[in-house]
Amino acid sequence: MKVVFGIVAVIVILAAAALGYALSPSAIAAIQPPAPASFQQAEVKHGAELARLGDCNTCHTVKGGAPYAGGYGLETSFGTIYSTNITPDADTGIGRWSEAAFARAMRQGLDREGDHLYPAFPYTHFTKLSDPDVKALYAFFMTRTPVKKAARDNDLPFPLNWRPVLAGWKLLFFHPGRFQPDAKASDQVNHGAYLVQGLGHCGACHTPRNVLQAEKRDDFLEGGEAEGWTAPAIAGNAMPAPKAWTQTALKDYLTGRYAKDHGVAAGPMQPVAQNLSEVPQSDVDAIVAYIHPGMRQGNAQPANAQASAAASGSSGQSGQGAAIYAGLCARCHEQASPSRYSEGLNLADSSALHEASGRNFVNFVLAGVQPPEGRAGPFMPPLAGSLTDGQLTALADYLRQAKAGLKPWDDLKDTISSVRKTALAAEAQPQS
Ligand code: HEC
Ligand code: HEC
Ligand code: HEC
Repeated sequence: MKVVFGIVAVIVILAAAALGYALSPSAIAAIQPPAPASFQQAEVKHGAELARLGDCNTCHTVKGGAPYAGGYGLETSFGTIYSTNITPDADTGIGRWSEAAFARAMRQGLDREGDHLYPAFPYTHFTKLSDPDVKALYAFFMTRTPVKKAARDNDLPFPLNWRPVLAGWKLLFFHPGRFQPDAKASDQVNHGAYLVQGLGHCGACHTPRNVLQAEKRDDFLEGGEAEGWTAPAIAGNAMPAPKAWTQTALKDYLTGRYAKDHGVAAGPMQPVAQNLSEVPQSDVDAIVAYIHPGMRQGNAQPANAQASAAASGSSGQSGQGAAIYAGLCARCHEQASPSRYSEGLNLADSSALHEASGRNFVNFVLAGVQPPEGRAGPFMPPLAGSLTDGQLTALADYLRQAKAGLKPWDDLKDTISSVRKTALAAEAQPQS
């Protein structure tokens, strides 16, 4: 089924690419870079908040590099796509883009010249933006410091490196159009829906994708992937969180604080939460109002019976895992530990241990948890250098049974090696 779909899709894409090439959209005329003083202060300030809600900084800035100057690599299953320079530099940035050209990029995924953009840039979500929000974002970006830095070539195989192919992808999977409010919902819930579905592009990570990397619209927020992590389901029946999310816990989590029964946002969720801690709280409240009712509640597993069964079967494997846990983890993750000095979650409550895949668990243990640069917050040391794959497997097998009452993950070996590889690739990201 998947294969047939893939073949049909490839044919449609190539046909549409030919058509898209023949009918390629026209360029929008270049302008003189507008003077920063021509934009209103209030608009620029609002644009700054919108830029946080849209995580423009996360994708358009490399570690140690100038803000928004691009060059950050996004890994896809087809290859690496690099973000572009969106500072107002006239030659290498968007300095010569009119507001109309900027709006067309955000809503239709076309650059100023009329070339198609890769959906790694989440215009499939940004298409829902309102006119005033596009205007404010434009004001914010045109008043940034221009930085001269040319875009990096993408690392994609033929024919995917040929932009007209994207015309076909868009024909199949891109649904342009403004946000449609739900007449029956409150203004607050509609604002939250606008942010979640649009600017906040939560679905870009939390919604599963098909073989051609398009989000499955019927499974909105039911669990996806991001940079070697699982982005857990945050709606529907597949939610891994064993304890109910209260509105307070959700708000704490989304703004980077320690959430009772859920811990802190880590991995690719950390920059999202950091950004949400710097926008008006009414925006976060709206996101919570929209997301929370869709979360399945009271999901505790009947862990105890199985857990004690697992613990009593003291095979060598589980004995080794238990010993590692007692030596390396318990002092921070056991409430009763006398030497507990850091706020680690009771691992029985961790979504990571209840996921179908062990990826997040492995990511947590290998990378640890560090607060965002320049901030204080819960800390767990990275253990990539301290545990062999065998020790990590013994630990995972033990915790899955003892804390989650679930059977061990069966593909853990592959998971560990792929997480180790992704971590190395991330370290090799181009710097400024
Ligand atoms: C998930 C990563 C991601 C996020 C978040 C993101 N972008 Fe991008 N953006 C990209 C990538 C990758 C490209 C390059 C796409 C291509 O080359 O086809 C891009 C391209 C663009 C372009 C086209 C520039 C050009 O020279 O063609 C604009 C404009 C843009 N982004 C603006 C924004 C704004 C504004 C935000 C925040 C509201 C934002 N982006 C958030 C990844 C991202
Ligand atoms: C760049 C990818 C990405 C984006 C965008 C993103 N998330 Fe996440 N999210 C993740 C990942 C990865 C995790 C798992 C992180 C962890 O366990 O610490 C996560 C975890 C979560 C969790 C906790 C789930 C659990 O069971 O522990 C919630 C709630 C959440 N995200 C909500 C949101 C909302 C709401 C948005 C949009 C405003 C959003 N996320 C945008 C990647 C993303
Ligand atoms: C120095 C204290 C410390 C040690 C040692 C430690 N952790 Fe942590 N751990 C933390 C903190 C703090 C967090 C972040 C708060 C949270 O989310 O639980 C965390 C988070 C986690 C999470 C994610 C929980 C969630 O869903 O949010 C897992 C899984 C985890 N640790 C497993 C382990 C394992 C396994 C070990 C031993 C190999 C270990 N930790 C050792 C402090 C520690």
